[in-house]
Amino acid sequence: MSRIHEALKKAELEREGLDAAPEVPAPGAQVATEESATSPEPAPPSAVHDLASGIFTLDVLRERVPVGDWHPDSKAVLFADSTPQAHPEGAEEFRTLRSRLYHLREKQSLQTVLVTSALPTEGKTFVTLNLARAIAHQHHRSVLVIDADLRMSRVHQGLGAAQSPGLSEYLKGEVDALDVIQRGPQDNLFIVAGGAPNANPVELLGTGRLRALIHRFMPIFDWILLDSPPAAFLSDSSLLAKVSDGVVMVVQSGVTPYDIAQKACKEFAPEQLVGVVLNRIPPGLAFPYHYYYGRGHGYGKTPAAQSNGNSQK
Ligand SMILES: Nc1ncnc2c1ncn2[C@@H]1O[C@H](COP(=O)(O)OP(=O)(O)O)[C@@H](O)[C@H]1O
Ligand SMILES: [Mg+2]
Repeated sequence: MSRIHEALKKAELEREGLDAAPEVPAPGAQVATEESATSPEPAPPSAVHDLASGIFTLDVLRERVPVGDWHPDSKAVLFADSTPQAHPEGAEEFRTLRSRLYHLREKQSLQTVLVTSALPTEGKTFVTLNLARAIAHQHHRSVLVIDADLRMSRVHQGLGAAQSPGLSEYLKGEVDALDVIQRGPQDNLFIVAGGAPNANPVELLGTGRLRALIHRFMPIFDWILLDSPPAAFLSDSSLLAKVSDGVVMVVQSGVTPYDIAQKACKEFAPEQLVGVVLNRIPPGLAFPYHYYYGRGHGYGKTPAAQSNGNSQK
């Protein structure tokens, strides 16, 4: 935990620095993990698929799930379909995050990743969506995003996809897995939207159906990303961590109080916390070094990717 705490402490220090700083309209995200972004990424795993037992291949999914008429929100996604380089600096940060997750995966089992944060609006959905699109931009890589923020689902909004039927309908047993999975123009990116909002999703998330859904799709996708509600005062994310291999904590630079971020981290087993994304770093306030946390690694510093103040990272 100490490395996470170091990273959070940095965020807190940055908050103090931000108090005197002017407001910045176009913030960026930076990633705090260990390995070099330039290292090669390993080849995708080869999955064995058994159609008879109801496990689908990606090709079968592509045949059965029609391409949705998605209209992504250009403020929410950096990798627009028509203009992939619309936000080159921001997109690069997500390629770096992607790369670091692949490196972590060489050392530990890591396929289902929960993206969470202490508080609302820190950028959980933003990070989830852009990480997913960074992964899906690679050839032969596939990613499923499950919007597990049943209180305030926003994944569908960022992509301009349908909200329902989604996870809440699936968890209630009203629909099957194939009814809730959607895809858009980006070939390797599939989502399960949140579905109808639910004021008390804890019971739904605890039914075991989410685990079943994830297990059904695990042989198909390289990555499964779970978007989530804030972790500091709600128990949803702790439940979601039980079906995840790792947790990425988003910390909003200059905003998240240190003790609240720490409280959120304590909701998870230390070995599950695989990294911190410091989001919305204002121009000129990036630290020269970022601290990372990764299970089984030594403590280390890595030179920061240069923060471009006006990028939408
Ligand atoms: N790095 C960023 N750059 C620009 N906009 C961002 C960034 N991070 C978050 N946002 C925007 O801030 C708002 C809140 O982010 P969101 O991801 O919905 O927060 P959360 O899911 O944690 O509640 C959204 O409009 C999102 O597009
Ligand atoms: Mg969200």
